[in-house]
Amino acid sequence: MSNDLVARCSELILQSKNTVVLTGAGISTNAGIPDFRGPQGLYTSRLYDAEKIFDIAYFLKDPKPFYEFAHDFIALESTIKPTVTHNALAALEGAGKIHAVITQNIDGLHQKAGSQKVLDMHGNFLKSHCLKCRKAFDYRELKSMVLQHVIPHCSCRGIIKPDIVFFGEDVKYYHQSLELAQSADLFFVIGTSCVVYPAASLPQFVPGKIVIINNSKVELNMYNVALEIESDMDVFFNKLMDTL
Ligand code: OAD
Repeated sequence: MSNDLVARCSELILQSKNTVVLTGAGISTNAGIPDFRGPQGLYTSRLYDAEKIFDIAYFLKDPKPFYEFAHDFIALESTIKPTVTHNALAALEGAGKIHAVITQNIDGLHQKAGSQKVLDMHGNFLKSHCLKCRKAFDYRELKSMVLQHVIPHCSCRGIIKPDIVFFGEDVKYYHQSLELAQSADLFFVIGTSCVVYPAASLPQFVPGKIVIINNSKVELNMYNVALEIESDMDVFFNKLMDTL
């Protein structure tokens, strides 16, 4: 990756009045959380039955595959730390250079890094609800049930489901995310293959410049893509933060 790309990107950030960021699972791979479609991704490695774990119709029939995944994810959660890129985005927000982060991730690492304005379109594990009586459960309660390898049930016998978005459910914060995209003069697309809608549609609404940072080609085919940085994002952000 050339120093010229780093310089051009830092110039775009310095000129921008309203930078918005869209992130995907690629931002957390260096923290040890596999993505979905990368070489070690959940859909590639078949470590879990990925088509079943995030499908609401399947979950209602049999929540076991999801909770097997959730067990491993929650067991890992206390040990994982934000990456260079999470920290850089939080620092840039703190410096007034990033307005908001829209993420498809459910790992909470943007918040752990200190980002304040985070729209997690696919939800998170912080709250869960009973699907029968809607009673709310906090993360501590869910965690203790999941780590005992039991499928969490409410006292009313309903299944408890974390407030993460499954295929077949509506995403969260769509309208706010759309408004953010529509008002961005600079929009970063970081660590996402941009194939899952509606998050993948957000770049289409951006009137400003788009910067893609991903270690494999992302096909946006849009006239306003100003920079395509095909690199490990932490390598890139280390250089960028040194330059800014
Ligand atoms: P994907 O796994 O589809 O895309 C992640 C992208 O990040 C891939 O193109 C990787 O090559 C790239 N990548 C991985 N590590 C990287 C690194 N260190 N530096 C640069 N690039 C890197 O993940 P998403 O696009 O986030 O939804 O997937 C979208 C949705 O699909 C997920 O939120 C999830 C899934 O099904 C639901 O479960 C509802």
